[in-house]
Amino acid sequence: MEHDFWLERWQQDQLGWHLEDTNALLEKHWPALGITRGSAVFVPLCGKSLDMRYLESLGHAVTGIELSEKAIQAYFEEGGETAVRTEQFYLIRYQGPRTTLYCGDFFDISAPDILGVRAVYDRGALVALPPALREQYVDHMLRIIPEHAHILLLTLEYDQTLVNGPPHSVTEAEVRALYGGRCRIECLERFTADRLPPHFTKAGVASAQEAVYHLIKDH
Ligand SMILES: C[S@@+](CC[C@H](N)C(=O)[O-])C[C@H]1O[C@@H](n2cnc3c(N)ncnc32)[C@H](O)[C@@H]1O
Repeated sequence: MEHDFWLERWQQDQLGWHLEDTNALLEKHWPALGITRGSAVFVPLCGKSLDMRYLESLGHAVTGIELSEKAIQAYFEEGGETAVRTEQFYLIRYQGPRTTLYCGDFFDISAPDILGVRAVYDRGALVALPPALREQYVDHMLRIIPEHAHILLLTLEYDQTLVNGPPHSVTEAEVRALYGGRCRIECLERFTADRLPPHFTKAGVASAQEAVYHLIKDH
């Protein structure tokens, strides 16, 4: 059901979340994480996000996972790159010049696929998932990334009783409940969003908060 929803969005080019430039919050906060040049970075539920281009420009080896093969092909085509496609059990691997994108379900990617990853960039991933899946997402994430890995997490908070996600509302209390037992968590920034999706405004959502967290996996 979830999968069909996203694949249909890609099929119909309804990509309201996609930004035509690097996310300003990534540019602002990533350098402070101290992830050295050349380190491997994992981008879950990556779409064709240009944030991966920014991470590449910092010398990172980027690995992403995305359900839609159309999204992955678009990422490489729009970047003028050729990627080598290989089928690998449940996943299809696209090896580009600087980036590896897996096509498939996040829950099918395993630790060897992202070996040596130092950091995770989560924008539009946790908030894309409904509550029950968020718990499984975090369990799986913490199972596949190594100890001391960093996570830069961007979230959105709004009155979920007025409208359904995605993007879903994920409060700081939920971030702490999901990750708190196994990660150190610092909220780096919180502010009122200057733009809301049109269907939020229509449903009476007057404002939303954006938040940025830095997490470090303890064990
Ligand atoms: C809100 S978009 C965000 C994309 C990207 N992170 C960005 O910031 O542009 C969520 C993406 O996750 C993908 N997706 C949803 N569920 C997934 C899953 N279980 N495994 C892999 N990708 C998934 C969707 O196809 C969609 O491209």
